[in-house]
Amino acid sequence: MKVLILAGGVGERLFPLSRLKYPKQFLRLNGESLFQKTVKRGLMLSDDIYVVTNVDHAFMIERELDEIDVKAKILTEPMPKNTLPAIYLGIKEIVKDFGRSKVAVLPSDHLIEINENYLSAFKEAEKLSDKFLVTFGIKPTKPHTGYGYIKPKERVGGGFVVERFVEKPDYETAKTYVESGYLWNSGMFVFDSEIFFEECEKYAKDVIEKVDSGRYEEIEPISVDKGILEKSNRVAVVPLDIFWSDVGSFDAIYEIMEKDESGNAVKGEFLGVDSNNNLIISEGLVTTVDVENMVIVNTKDVTLVCPRESSQKVREVVRALRERS
Ligand code: GDD
Ligand code: MG
Repeated sequence: MKVLILAGGVGERLFPLSRLKYPKQFLRLNGESLFQKTVKRGLMLSDDIYVVTNVDHAFMIERELDEIDVKAKILTEPMPKNTLPAIYLGIKEIVKDFGRSKVAVLPSDHLIEINENYLSAFKEAEKLSDKFLVTFGIKPTKPHTGYGYIKPKERVGGGFVVERFVEKPDYETAKTYVESGYLWNSGMFVFDSEIFFEECEKYAKDVIEKVDSGRYEEIEPISVDKGILEKSNRVAVVPLDIFWSDVGSFDAIYEIMEKDESGNAVKGEFLGVDSNNNLIISEGLVTTVDVENMVIVNTKDVTLVCPRESSQKVREVVRALRERS
């Protein structure tokens, strides 16, 4: 198996911690960055690591790889066009180097705690990838609208045939999915290169033609989830029982950080009077009085304050800022 790491996203929902120039995969919550942790998980699956990233981030990727002393092949896209073009570009390169291959596709911005289930799930996925595009399903804990939802059907090998894949449904729909046993799409995949190419031919011919001829600026951004997995009828899912967070919002960060006795998760210096269940990330001292369930992020040049439950809306700040500039 070969490993393809996707490291070209921008992580708008963690502004101002992550920026265009400093996206989520480079965040260091404790010690190593999420990207470096991903590389190490990748090495458990294969010695051949490929990274697809944006031209703007290639230098950072090199530096991060050097720091952990890992060699990988870095492929750069002239501009981000979401995951489908990135995966296609990466798998094409792998096939050029090794011929037909099985490829573990890993997002670089998740936090995962490895246990024995991780390796055995990938072994099962590798077997199933003879016939299917293989996803990994996480048991949902709430109707999160930032994830793909997978409806499993009959058993096959160590997993299930997928009856339906729905990318990022609205809240009400997500609620019915959680109640009726759908799984969250983890964002990791195992693809056989030939099967992936066949499905691209069927459902995303236009995109792959543009990648092939280097007409990147003409590509309409599209994710592999929307472009292929929602449409294909050759998808399987292997259930994955591990600690997993996509660190997709400040609320997700709050959930994975250690809390003090008042339920505050703090990185930096904080003094709170009657202040509970807040997330505080700061380069200076933050003080609060009677503040609950809030996010306060304070960097050198930007401060963000929002209720924890509005974390998903932080990307709207980024969009508004972009329009202003
Ligand atoms: N090279 C490259 N180029 N990488 C990209 C690009 C791109 O244009 N866009 C995104 N990525 C990388 C991101 O850095 C991340 O590591 C990964 O691809 C997934 O992209 P996200 O943008 O984070 O996807 P998502 O979180 O909205 O949704 C996906 O992940 C969810 C789980 O976290 C989907 O697969 C969902 O179905 C899934 O539930
Ligand atoms: Mg993500």
